[in-house]
Amino acid sequence: MAYEFLESRRDGPVERLTLNRPDVRNAFNEDVIAELTAWAEATREAAERGEVRVAAIAGAGKVFCAGADVTWMAKTVRYSREENLDDAKAASRMFAAINGLPIAVIGRIHGAALGGGAGLAAVCDIVVAADSALFGFTETKLGILPAVISPFALAKIGRSAARELFLTGARFSAARAREIGLVHAVVPEVELDGAVDGYVHELLSAGPRAVAAAKALIADVWPRSVADAMMVTASAIAERRVSPEGQEGLRAFLEKRTPGWSEAKHAEDTKGRHG
Ligand code: COA
Repeated sequence: MAYEFLESRRDGPVERLTLNRPDVRNAFNEDVIAELTAWAEATREAAERGEVRVAAIAGAGKVFCAGADVTWMAKTVRYSREENLDDAKAASRMFAAINGLPIAVIGRIHGAALGGGAGLAAVCDIVVAADSALFGFTETKLGILPAVISPFALAKIGRSAARELFLTGARFSAARAREIGLVHAVVPEVELDGAVDGYVHELLSAGPRAVAAAKALIADVWPRSVADAMMVTASAIAERRVSPEGQEGLRAFLEKRTPGWSEAKHAEDTKGRHG
């Protein structure tokens, strides 16, 4: 699919997306939101066809993403309440579409991830940041709110950090972002691509359906009590262990071989065919 503000590249089973509006630091307006939503939908369909197993999101230019386009936000004063609601719901749907992708999504953060940019980090499963990157839920500094990103950000950083960071709008370091659970790995900027690829390889050695099921399990179990979770967890593992993929993984371990879905297995087969 051709996009104006995104660059998407398929690298075997890896979908690599780059936000590409560097002049405004990859800030998103209604057009970018529409493209990102379409990208998430196309990626979900490709994942369901088994063509994509991991997605990685990066930003072109100096920073990952400066959040909502302030020019666009300012002009919404001319919209009716209904139009403002529809506009905000479209942004909400975009974050939800990325958040709900049935594959692992890796965020590659350099420069800055501010406002909705920090929200984009929050909807990634795994976030790798440059040690120089700055984060912030900066909306209150602009007199607005980190509203549509709040369910995703709260799920990552919890209420305590949100009470400090949503209210102050203060910028914070990658190290702090890691402490509060927004980021999983912090590396020097020159090592960012290597760190992303490390996660990609790790994910490609896990069963694709198991990865999707693990992601769904977290979303499903998190709001439940232990007692209430029991039926969900019992049925999830009962299904998975007798599934073809579960059986292949269990047998491969016992037979001391690499499972069929693994990237390492694919490399072995290709080597066998070619040399
Ligand atoms: N919306 C619209 N335009 C933005 C933007 C945003 N969120 N963030 C940056 N820009 C624009 C700037 O206005 C500037 O435009 P100009 O070249 O016409 O003057 C251009 O992008 C470059 O910005 P600049 O601040 O000079 O770049 P920088 O590399 O020094 O700093 C940031 C990058 C991201 C740290 C800085 O731009 C920033 O703090 N942006 C605001 C982020 C924010 O609070 N977002 C929350 C929005 S709700």
